[in-house]
Amino acid sequence: MKKVIKNGIIVTAADTYSADVLIENGVISMIGENISTQDSEVIDANGCYLFPGGIDPHTHLEMPFGGTVTKDDFETGTIAAAFGGTTTVIDFCLTNKGEPLKDAIATWHAKAKNKAVIDYGFHLMIGEVNDAVLEELPSVIDDEGITSFKVFMAYKNVLQADDETLFQTLIAAKELGALVMVHAENGDVIDYLTKEALEHGNTDPIYHALTRPPEIEGEATERAAIFTGLANSQLYVVHVSCAEAAKKIAEARSKGIDIWGETCPQYLLLDQSYLERPDFQGAKYVWSPPLREKWNQNVLWTALKTGQLQTLGSDQCSFDFNGQKDLGKGDFSKIPNGGPFIEDRLSVFFSEGVRKGRITLNQFVDITSTRVAKLFGLYPKKGTIAVGADADIVVFDPTVERTISAETHHMAVDYNAFEGMKITGEPVTVLSRGEFVIRDKNFVGNIGMGRYLKRAKYETNAKEKEKKTFTH
Ligand code: URP
Ligand code: ZN
Ligand code: ZN
Ligand code: ZN
Repeated sequence: MKKVIKNGIIVTAADTYSADVLIENGVISMIGENISTQDSEVIDANGCYLFPGGIDPHTHLEMPFGGTVTKDDFETGTIAAAFGGTTTVIDFCLTNKGEPLKDAIATWHAKAKNKAVIDYGFHLMIGEVNDAVLEELPSVIDDEGITSFKVFMAYKNVLQADDETLFQTLIAAKELGALVMVHAENGDVIDYLTKEALEHGNTDPIYHALTRPPEIEGEATERAAIFTGLANSQLYVVHVSCAEAAKKIAEARSKGIDIWGETCPQYLLLDQSYLERPDFQGAKYVWSPPLREKWNQNVLWTALKTGQLQTLGSDQCSFDFNGQKDLGKGDFSKIPNGGPFIEDRLSVFFSEGVRKGRITLNQFVDITSTRVAKLFGLYPKKGTIAVGADADIVVFDPTVERTISAETHHMAVDYNAFEGMKITGEPVTVLSRGEFVIRDKNFVGNIGMGRYLKRAKYETNAKEKEKKTFTH
């Protein structure tokens, strides 16, 4: 059945205006005034904004990590995402050295299929580059529609790749039309500092932060940016946590290097002192890069406002406090790294960002949806409210006040890192391809209704990039 959304205020990355939205066959078919409601179901959005569904470019659902598996899977994770106004996630598909890439991708499809309630895509981790990998990459892009590769510069002896691998990945990505993503921290230095700390009996959660200083995030960010410039390729730095890294991205951009930066709500709103909470509570705030001294938050907000950072990911990577985080009691290096943010990403960003005047309403949409869609080959089907786009729409009440709590959140995990935070603004109704997933704050979707998204290649100024080039 057709649907018409009435009385809402449409917000895109460019415009804010009042209009009705007609939805047919999952797609927005008309935007205008006084659209006929004949033969249509009417959704009254009086007093609400209509945002394009949020796109979360950074999730780890059902991911084996730190000796356990993340608590939220594609079912609980995407339901929580939908409650929060997110209608697309791009999850990280891990790979193992020596294993065909297609096997790793099949493993990830099996996790998501028949579970996800919103649409989803995958980024592919690259841990090594050899003939077999190079041979498979074209099919990863053309057949799977996976057009972004992730390289970890940290997690030594686990996920970390060496510089040659990063450089080769950048070259291959340039040739094939993919965007390279990096976790930018110097894993070798972290490894040394961690061993040192433990040898001296420094085992509490706070040492997670103290052994991963911001300088080595800045250093890795700069190294990756330099490689990107040399390879004439393209780079997206995930989870930028500090001034040092934001500055390196800004410097590289000013030199014309094709580099983008993502931050996460946790770095905008929480700080390093959380890791000092007594009774091992600090473990709830252990993820990488770590939380930083509070003054970094202003630097990150300003970087978003001025366009030096462009996107907001959740880095959803949830572990229970009881039974998972406690693997690291007596040894901070064994605390599984990650936190639960898939649900609250948009609401806290709206409340703390838009309502407090740090970013505009249109920037909010750009940072949480439109820019992500453009970078990751989903635009304009996703990431905007326009005729022809998928009807992924959030009806958002900007006035409702609530307090975030694990008791009311929808993630499977037993704590919320924003527990007790008072925020204003909440999704009321969420449509995915025109179907209700959330209706009047209740989940009404079907498990497995989410579809896998094959994404378009990264759009580069290819001619410009051919001028200066290393090739395989
Ligand atoms: O601590 C984190 N961020 N865990 C997830 C993996 C990653 O580094 O993104
Ligand atoms: Zn990471
Ligand atoms: Zn992550
Ligand atoms: Zn090549």
